[in-house]
Amino acid sequence: MDSLSPKPLDTQAALAQRYGAAIPPVGPWNETIAGLLEHRSVRGYKPDPVPAGTLETLIAAASSAATSSNMQWWSAVAVTDPAKKKVLAEIAGGQKHIEECPLFIAWVADMARHQRISDEEKTAFETMPWLETFLVACIDTALAAQNAVVAAESIGLGTVYIGAMRNDPVRVAELLGLPKQSFVVFGLCVGYPTEKGVGEVKPRLPQATVLHHESYDAAHEAAERKTYDAEMAAFSKRHEMQAATWTQRVLNRLGPIKSMAGRDRMRAALAKLGFEIR
Ligand SMILES: Cc1cc2nc3c(=O)[nH]c(=O)nc-3n(C[C@H](O)[C@H](O)[C@H](O)COP(=O)(O)O)c2cc1C
Repeated sequence: MDSLSPKPLDTQAALAQRYGAAIPPVGPWNETIAGLLEHRSVRGYKPDPVPAGTLETLIAAASSAATSSNMQWWSAVAVTDPAKKKVLAEIAGGQKHIEECPLFIAWVADMARHQRISDEEKTAFETMPWLETFLVACIDTALAAQNAVVAAESIGLGTVYIGAMRNDPVRVAELLGLPKQSFVVFGLCVGYPTEKGVGEVKPRLPQATVLHHESYDAAHEAAERKTYDAEMAAFSKRHEMQAATWTQRVLNRLGPIKSMAGRDRMRAALAKLGFEIR
């Protein structure tokens, strides 16, 4: 039940899980950081419901995230109705964990609330129809959701983000009764992982690739990618994943337009949802 709570994990062991052989020389360390390094997405859930008040705890964590100019551009729709989750799973290309998890949270970039303020206060908001404002709303939504993820993992719950809500944002908005100028950026499955669902920490690119000092330097990136590919190939083999290396995964995901699963129609979908993005 408590399989994902932070354990007093040895620092070097935690870093080895995350980076393989490319262990960086870290400094201060505590249980919070150990918990963050234990993150893995969970795609197998027990049917047990989450305890009463859990949703509200997660939302309190989400509300505690920083938010641009305190505008608080997000809302969350909690879904437990099996029939609704079934439709959401179907929109997401048949991701069974959406049906399986006891709690699904749709994270909404919500510009409708601010539009209502504009209407009620009879003040035109000239800043609303700009890409910058839309971007800020999505950033706020993501920061809030990630706080909820960290909170969930700290109490032994598993989560997985569901970006595939964006396969058909209009249908998702209809299903959840969203007003114009709001859309689900992603969903989040929440629940207790099955034994298999707990999974394994997935290695990440070495810090040498992602961390730059004073100025950007990709001189050694190709060699570092080879090392990471070997790490990910071993991981993929253990988990029977399709793409062996990370490079192959990038090629598959970014090469063909069909891998966007409908998200190439995002601009039209957003227009339909009432977003005017200049
Ligand atoms: C915005 C976002 C959307 C995602 N969408 C999905 C999804 O639709 N289905 C899924 O199984 N995983 C999804 N994921 C999970 C990623 O695949 C996962 O985080 C990544 O492979 C790294 O694995 P880890 O989280 O176990 O470390 C998503 C993650 C993010 C951040």
